[in-house]
Amino acid sequence: MIISTRALEAHIGATVALRGWLLSKQVRGKLAFLGLRDGEGVAQLVCEARSLPEDIFASLGSLGLETPLEVKGRVVLPPGKTRPELAVSSLRASPCDPDYPIGRKEHGPDFLMEKRHLWLRAPRQAAILRIRSSLEFACEDFLHQEGFYRFDSPLITPTACEGTSQLFELDYFGKKAYLSQSGQLYAEAGIAALERVYTMGPCFRAEKSVTRRHLTEFWGVEPEMAHVDAEANMAFQERFIRAVLSKVAVEREQDLVELGRDPGSLEFGPGAFPVLLYDEVLALLAKEGREKPWGEDLSVEDEEVLTRLFATPIFVYKYPVACRAFYIEVDSARPELALASDCLMPDGFGEIISGGQRARDLGFLEARIAAQGLGRESLEWYLDLRRWGSVIHSGFGMGIERMLRWICGLHHIREAIPFARNPQRYSP
Ligand code: 4AD
Ligand code: MG
Repeated sequence: MIISTRALEAHIGATVALRGWLLSKQVRGKLAFLGLRDGEGVAQLVCEARSLPEDIFASLGSLGLETPLEVKGRVVLPPGKTRPELAVSSLRASPCDPDYPIGRKEHGPDFLMEKRHLWLRAPRQAAILRIRSSLEFACEDFLHQEGFYRFDSPLITPTACEGTSQLFELDYFGKKAYLSQSGQLYAEAGIAALERVYTMGPCFRAEKSVTRRHLTEFWGVEPEMAHVDAEANMAFQERFIRAVLSKVAVEREQDLVELGRDPGSLEFGPGAFPVLLYDEVLALLAKEGREKPWGEDLSVEDEEVLTRLFATPIFVYKYPVACRAFYIEVDSARPELALASDCLMPDGFGEIISGGQRARDLGFLEARIAAQGLGRESLEWYLDLRRWGSVIHSGFGMGIERMLRWICGLHHIREAIPFARNPQRYSP
């Protein structure tokens, strides 16, 4: 019976087969220890000369890393060890070039990114990617249970959703088009048909700088809800975050432990996540020695200082209108404030979600589009949504890689996606 490395524990004493790739090798006289990795993890294989045909044992010394292997043997739990091993009685190796380029020595990030198609196989990278997969499913699972429909927005669009400075332009049969920055505007069309929708797909931003938190292509999950205001939107985000993190913590417990992350740190206590008004944030930052003029957006450093003061995610609410995109509703009591929120993760991490209530009024939106110098023609369809059937509605967008970076405690966002894109890299 072929089982996965993760299932070894349940088969102690049984004879089983494993299939995988050679991760490591140590041959000492008549004994060889092989590390075998498969899609689920790593297992230690113990090969004794007396238990294997002579030619097979002799060939172990020349096996190259990443050789595909099929092995059979008995699952044993050696005294004093916590993980079962396989005492190998048969082994079949497939051909493989020697000299796998990623060795045991330390490689720099540029080399590893150049070899990303191979680096993915490293146990740590594979663990991160399994967690990513669980995270994406957890998002969809929660939204599905909450009555949302998945709504796939186009990636080729005529519109700028998040401002014009970070657009990738395309020649679309002689016309200008852009790669989508966000599915939100289309999700807003979706709610008048389906009430609760989410988009989940790639978002493109021509970010010019290389940072530890920005990609030029990232994945966004963007729920949008009819009849929900800015405050209910934040309460919903809190439930979303809690549900998603707790599902990932259970499903990927072992991978998290292998990354050095305590799965328990993905759960937060019962109190609601604090909601701080922008004005309150300025006062808190001033106390920390960071005076800011009113009206400026929070910088990465501001978010770092602010979130070090909290042990749970926090919301920053009612940003100045000037800091937000054209589609955001304003506070009727103080029209200089937007009904927009960001959710920031604790311990210096910062933004993972932006969201808010959408402007409902046609005239207001027309004025905002003009003031921001956005092409009115390309947004005419969006204005139609306000002409017919405009209701209070809100939504938000979470970057999958940002959340994964927080979950896994990654230094750099490049490890949070199979093939990261930044201004310096679009290969492999
Ligand atoms: O804050 P952003 O730009 O907000 C929007 O796009 C809204 N339309 C969302 C909405 O209301 N539906 O992007 C949303 C999230 C950010 O909070 C961040 O987590 C992630 O997407 N993000 C990026 N992740 C990686 N690289 C980048 N360059 C990112 N830009 C945004
Ligand atoms: Mg944002």
